Amino acid sequence: MAKGFNDRIFATVDVGTTKICVLVARQLADKEIEVIGCGKAPSDGLSKGVVVDVAKTIHSIRSAIKEAELMAGLPIESVTVGISGAHISSLNSQGVVPIKRGDIRENDVAAVLAAARAIPIPDGQQILHVLPQYYVIDGRDRVTDPRGMHGIRLEVQAHIIMGAIASVQNLVKCCESAGVAVHDIVLEQLASALCVLSEDEQKLGVAVLDIGGGTSDFAIYQHGTIRHTKVLPVAGNHFTNDIAVGLCTTLKDAERVKKEHGAAASPLEKDEFIEVEMVHGEQKQVVRSSDLVRIIEPRAQELLAIVHEEILSKRLESFITTGIVLTGGGSLLKGIQPLAEKMLDLPVRIGHLKVPFSIPDSLHSPIYATGYGLLMHTIQKQKENEMSDMSGPLLKKVLNRMKAWMVDFF
Ligand SMILES: Nc1ncnc2c1ncn2[C@@H]1O[C@H](COP(=O)(O)OP(=O)(O)OP(=O)(O)O)[C@@H](O)[C@H]1O
Ligand SMILES: [Mg+2]
Repeated sequence: MAKGFNDRIFATVDVGTTKICVLVARQLADKEIEVIGCGKAPSDGLSKGVVVDVAKTIHSIRSAIKEAELMAGLPIESVTVGISGAHISSLNSQGVVPIKRGDIRENDVAAVLAAARAIPIPDGQQILHVLPQYYVIDGRDRVTDPRGMHGIRLEVQAHIIMGAIASVQNLVKCCESAGVAVHDIVLEQLASALCVLSEDEQKLGVAVLDIGGGTSDFAIYQHGTIRHTKVLPVAGNHFTNDIAVGLCTTLKDAERVKKEHGAAASPLEKDEFIEVEMVHGEQKQVVRSSDLVRIIEPRAQELLAIVHEEILSKRLESFITTGIVLTGGGSLLKGIQPLAEKMLDLPVRIGHLKVPFSIPDSLHSPIYATGYGLLMHTIQKQKENEMSDMSGPLLKKVLNRMKAWMVDFF
């Protein structure tokens, strides 16, 4: 597929623990967006969301990129990449600046965000995102966009997300060695949230839980901005490992029976007999589906108990007014939604992809939520850049400085 003169190309890489997914989209001159390429490869160089084997990760990223390039019919030069893992931490911070000229301008907003960013950063960590939650002018009401308002003192409450420098660099290195430049890194749950949450949910208060293979990524939104983020260490692969150990079967068969017969809670409508390989792979054995569920249930309860504990210990209940949206491959586990409702005592729904472009039928699964979210983030950012390009050289300079503060991972 040839690139038209005015077309823009966007590419993203979701480096997951179980799969690498590369998506390529094209924005036509009339602003319409279409997904023109997708490449997938099994990922076996990651553990719990972080790169543990550089060579294997490069190989997987390269295969996924090649497949996406072939389908799109054009080379991929630079990408937006998702990041996750236990090294990610977040905190809320405040910043205050005086306003000299009376009305608040872009550079005052940039200055107050820089003030919020001035926090002690633990050794080996770097700031990935500084996300404004709300602004306060002269100690009065909270506002979401203070530009153009009058005041003498501007405060901001911001959510700061940090990650380990080594993990970030390993991810960048793997992508670069696979032949693509990294122009942005985005926390995975921010990306997933973008494409499964409605605007109203984000305004009223909602949580998203992306249950992946290595990590479950949690985020809370209210008043249209991020309130809380946390990467949890239990996800789909832990279920598979438990099944392999519990049924004495291979990891491959454990994964298969989990998807085909697994459920997060008992009792089952029908207790079936299932044939699985024995762990040495040379013989088969027959197990009951109720035995399978007896293995999965405590792990699902453990994951949801961690989420519950996070909500209670950080006093987050008041932010989650509309409930929790589950996404990621783990959300496909049968029975996870009612179990989550029971354990978290909140409305829970499975997130369907809400994206402003058409998606091929084969790519409708929640396992692609992060990939599509990365695409939406990249397109949104491009739009902001274009708006700043149109706003004159001075404003452009200020916005660019602001952006450098907001996403500062190198
Ligand atoms: N139908 C299903 N039932 C139960 N689990 C499923 C189903 N389909 C996929 N999964 C599980 O979802 C997980 C993969 O999800 P996903 O693709 O979102 O993870 P990932 O992005 O590779 O990993 P991570 O985000 O943790 O780095 C695997 O553990 C897989 O077994
Ligand atoms: Mg993922």
